[in-house]
Amino acid sequence: MGWSRRPLPFLLRGSILPSLISVRVAAHLAAVAVARNLPLPASPSRALPLSFNIMEAEADSGNGSLILIKQGAEARVFEFSFVGRRSVIKERFSKKYRHPTLDSKLTLKHLNAEARCMTKARRLGVRTPVLYAVDPVLHTLTFEYVEGSSIKDVFLVFGSHGVIEERLDNIASQIGDAIGKLHDGGLIHGDLTTSNMLLKHDTNHLVLIDFGLSFTSTLPEDKAVDLYVLERALLSMHSSCGNVMD
Ligand SMILES: Nc1ncnc2c1ncn2[C@@H]1O[C@H](COP(=O)(O)OP(=O)(O)O)[C@@H](O)[C@H]1O
Ligand SMILES: [Mg+2]
Repeated sequence: MGWSRRPLPFLLRGSILPSLISVRVAAHLAAVAVARNLPLPASPSRALPLSFNIMEAEADSGNGSLILIKQGAEARVFEFSFVGRRSVIKERFSKKYRHPTLDSKLTLKHLNAEARCMTKARRLGVRTPVLYAVDPVLHTLTFEYVEGSSIKDVFLVFGSHGVIEERLDNIASQIGDAIGKLHDGGLIHGDLTTSNMLLKHDTNHLVLIDFGLSFTSTLPEDKAVDLYVLERALLSMHSSCGNVMD
């Protein structure tokens, strides 16, 4: 079957769309490097600028900005304008202490696992950001930017301004509902903290993010550990926002 005769679902499901999109992302990142007078990598369309200074990641290339949201132990998260949409890029970086070949394999494995688990959560009816692109070369995932606050921040506001019971009940039932759907579908989130739950400003819907530690399992023990992590996260908020466990 010729290229033009291939059905649209093939084009969307296959690697063509993601690779077209990732070239665009890489082109943007290269533009950022040029704007900042940074040396370009050997293959500018397929790699992040090698000397990209993460601590000064607020870079303006004229058609959008790349703003560092979080530098973690495993990944850096940037806000980014992607084909005109506010989006988030999560870049898994290599670990210098690992052998390069092993490192590349492990990074790619984790990248794919995160994308797969997030997609599975969405299939199970749990709200997650839309996944726009997976780039196995740059080791990046590009997501829809969720306009909202983390549950952690919402609880901190409860702590300083008083708890709105109705809102707290609504959040609690949405958290329970989301975890129920994940666990019934055999998916363990792996990092159920209040920073990994966002509340959308416009709809007040709960959105789960960060499936970097997720895996599939139907074992009650794995589900229990997931809930234990959540319990610890909620208990640790007691000092700042009162008893959210009641
Ligand atoms: N889709 C998104 N929309 C808005 N903010 C996001 C989104 N994804 C991540 N973030 C922000 O970036 C932070 C880090 O992202 P996360 O995926 O949790 O990475 P890490 O594995 O480093 O914790 C989140 O706590 C959240 O504040
Ligand atoms: Mg996180």
